[in-house]
Amino acid sequence: MKRVLVTGGAGFIGSHLVEALLERGCAVTAIDDESTGRFANLASVRNHPRLMCVAGSIADPSLLDRVVADADEVYHLAAAVGVALVARQPIETIERNIYPTDRLLAALRARRRQGDDVRFFLASTSEVYGKNPKPVWNEDDDLVFGPTTRMRWSYGASKAIDEFLALASWRQEGLPVVIGRFFNVVGPRQSGAYGMVLPRFVESACAGRPLVVHDDGSQTRCFAHVSDVVRAVLSLMDHTEARGRVFNIGSDEPISILELAQRVIAAAGGGSRIEHQTYATAFDANFEDVRHRVPDLTRLRTTINYARRYDLDRIIAELVATYARPETRT
Ligand SMILES: NC(=O)c1ccc[n+]([C@@H]2O[C@H](COP(=O)([O-])OP(=O)(O)OC[C@H]3O[C@@H](n4cnc5c(N)ncnc54)[C@H](O)[C@@H]3O)[C@@H](O)[C@H]2O)c1
Repeated sequence: MKRVLVTGGAGFIGSHLVEALLERGCAVTAIDDESTGRFANLASVRNHPRLMCVAGSIADPSLLDRVVADADEVYHLAAAVGVALVARQPIETIERNIYPTDRLLAALRARRRQGDDVRFFLASTSEVYGKNPKPVWNEDDDLVFGPTTRMRWSYGASKAIDEFLALASWRQEGLPVVIGRFFNVVGPRQSGAYGMVLPRFVESACAGRPLVVHDDGSQTRCFAHVSDVVRAVLSLMDHTEARGRVFNIGSDEPISILELAQRVIAAAGGGSRIEHQTYATAFDANFEDVRHRVPDLTRLRTTINYARRYDLDRIIAELVATYARPETRT
């Protein structure tokens, strides 16, 4: 039986990944400090005989050594996530995103030197492309960050350091790593509390409140359902040719944030209006947004059999239905 460690296992994506790994017959250890996630996200599998939940931080060296010791595979999702959180707590973001990754990789390299080949998945982000002006981003494109005085870039830069560390571990010591750059993942259990747009919109529309759109709403994003993303991650980890490589993962169908708001309002029954808010009011006077963000998925599609099962209408309908049932809200 494969023993798998999921860091951030009580988070939004982590909890779906844990469920999928259990379904595959793995023994799963989920570690989480509940900084943004919560173990309640694992309610459906909480008493599963092959699941062990560990409450604590992966930044704690003795805990890290304990959970890494017998893992055959590690999925590293623990991080400080979300533009609003980054704007509020830049020190936390940088420290949370860099040091635990460094320590995890060091522990896995040490195990490899003892003959244990532990596979490692790193959850990275489209934010590493920064504000690259290309209309579609592929994995070999430049990372174009703004100045260090604008804290929002610290999230992408910290994840870029993680990528360098993981790729260096592959190049120098042969550690089998796979890096996935997620583009706007959405679905049940995602919290709107840290700036994620779709759960915020659904929550407001279902409560009949105004939907707050930043700026004029012409900025575009691509939204993929968490189950499609989790299937892609698991499939990449099964493919030896994915090792030592970076993959965009998500949807490549852009929609403007204004149109997204309109579609959510329509799906929720049409009672809410749209309010616009400047970036300065939403974040701070120095905030710089990325206007368009579309992944090139060619590498993903040529490496695994990637076909999404959820389009945006199905995603919105599911979220509205979930929100209408109070017991399933996050
Ligand atoms: N949701 C998206 O659209 C998206 C996009 C790009 C990248 N990502 C990446 O995917 C991963 C998961 O994100 P998510 O959307 O599920 O967010 P999330 O906040 O729900 O998940 C992160 C989890 O990590 C936990 N955590 C944070 N620091 C920890 C630590 N030191 N020790 C133990 N647990 C810790 C949090 O409590 C949380 O449960 C993150 O690495 C994020 O950068 C997500």
